[in-house]
Amino acid sequence: MEKPSRLVIAVDGPAASGKGTIARALARHYDLPHLDTGMLYRGVALSLFRFGGDPGNVFEARRAVEALEQVDLGDEELRSETIGEIASRVSAYPEVREALFKRQQDFAGQDGGAVLDGRDIGTVIAPDATAKLFVTASPEVRAQRRFKEIEGRGIPVHLEDVLADIRARDERDAGRDSAPLAQAADAVLLDTSAMGVEEAIAKALEAVEAARG
Ligand code: DC
Repeated sequence: MEKPSRLVIAVDGPAASGKGTIARALARHYDLPHLDTGMLYRGVALSLFRFGGDPGNVFEARRAVEALEQVDLGDEELRSETIGEIASRVSAYPEVREALFKRQQDFAGQDGGAVLDGRDIGTVIAPDATAKLFVTASPEVRAQRRFKEIEGRGIPVHLEDVLADIRARDERDAGRDSAPLAQAADAVLLDTSAMGVEEAIAKALEAVEAARG
């Protein structure tokens, strides 16, 4: 695939919407570097968790950002529900978001472009992105997907608990004052509730091609 000049793709959406899968597929297709920005917030959460910090204390959360370099962003522990929950809490602090801003903006600004996925890529990190997607699915469908994923890792779990967690996370991510989860005015909405993975990727590619004009 020919590499277009500066193609920046912003993929936003709630937890377990499929945005990560779509972002990775787009990055592969266009041969672009990909950043899962949720991993940065999860990294801060794991750093905080390791030193026994309080997610309700902004100074401790800020200290966890300073110690982020000590966290391996490939660590499997980052994917746990506990860390996702703490990440959702610490990401509500503007101080934490500001501290992670430049790193994400630099990633989006690299030569040739990049694919970033998260909650505020199209609205805050890369408002001038070439293509913006807002990937979503009903809470029930997302809970079902997350449930299967957790079960697949051999961890016992109840579907109702996963659904309750998803709803709580949606509320916190969309309800915070600082860069809340929101669809950018110029983002293409992709509801994957009734779609398989391949179809969702095909639709995402179509949207990016349309945006590239
Ligand atoms: O996408 P994820 O589940 O890995 O993200 C974990 C948490 O990080 C999510 O609940 C909210 C926060 N987050 C954010 O506030 N902004 C982003 N760009 C990405 C994630």
